[in-house]
Amino acid sequence: MIQAACPVVSCETVGSDIHVLEFHSPELCSTVKPGQFVNIKVSNSCYPLLRRPFSVYQVHHETAQVIFSVVGIGTGILAAKRLGDVVDMIGPLGSPFRVDSDYETAVLVAGGLGVAPLPLLTQSMRGKRNIATFLGARSKDRLVSTHLENLNVATDDGSAGYHGTVVDLLRHELGKNRFPRPKIFACGPIGMLDGLDRLARDLGLPCEVSLEGSMACGFGICQGCPIERVDHEKKYSLVCKEGPVFDSRSVRLRK
Ligand SMILES: Cc1cc2nc3c(=O)[nH]c(=O)nc-3n(C[C@H](O)[C@H](O)[C@H](O)COP(=O)(O)OP(=O)(O)OC[C@H]3O[C@@H](n4cnc5c(N)ncnc54)[C@H](O)[C@@H]3O)c2cc1C
Ligand code: FES
Repeated sequence: MIQAACPVVSCETVGSDIHVLEFHSPELCSTVKPGQFVNIKVSNSCYPLLRRPFSVYQVHHETAQVIFSVVGIGTGILAAKRLGDVVDMIGPLGSPFRVDSDYETAVLVAGGLGVAPLPLLTQSMRGKRNIATFLGARSKDRLVSTHLENLNVATDDGSAGYHGTVVDLLRHELGKNRFPRPKIFACGPIGMLDGLDRLARDLGLPCEVSLEGSMACGFGICQGCPIERVDHEKKYSLVCKEGPVFDSRSVRLRK
């Protein structure tokens, strides 16, 4: 884990209020694994005080990217960054997806900007595993489908692909036995992850989920990101340190 002042290379809008911030950090690029995240101080002032966590979206040689929408003060400031600005970044943080376990087809599933960790995950598996990707979004203009493989799309409003949820689409496609020995890797809203966990249990499939709950320090000091365990190993885990990626059967995804 490093902390560095990283020069901003660009911040581009790539869809309906979807931004990609690219910054220079050779150390991050050479160490980050799929599913890990960075914690960014969005301004030099005391406000907002807390860093904001983002999955690493892509790395190119010495630059890394994060992808986000503006939902509040921090992402608003970040979206206004330009070449010449600097962001203070801590990373890589958290535990990555476990890509080396026993399966044949990696089934990558994302809802909305839960797509963020998938390009790096795809890159790490390309040529080694079969990959099938399932993307869900509210509508066509919220789909980010670049740098992914074997794409299947679902939208809530039916403006692209399957009309319905990505979990329903996946259930439908898995029912056709198209994918030999699948393992699900997912990131997105908690309701979607809960639905995927139920599907994985129904079909007896392994399933890893990346959680995006609230965070402060990002590396296990403040105890501010507990998630309840259901596997009786212990009562709680810290999402920032033991996650954000968990076996879906090990944590409580529903209230
Ligand atoms: C490990 C991790 C990885 C993440 N990766 C990404 C990513 O790649 N792209 C991305 O767009 N976002 C990601 N997030 C969520 C992102 O960190 C928050 O959207 C961001 O911190 C909001 O900051 P803000 O100051 O703009 O919003 P705030 O002003 O802090 O909050 C604005 C609104 O958003 C809600 N909110 C804030 N944080 C979250 C959250 N984590 N989950 C749900 N609602 C929240 C608040 O409750 C409030 O209603 C990730 C979160 C975690 C923990
Ligand atoms: S965010 Fe501080 S312990 Fe997880």
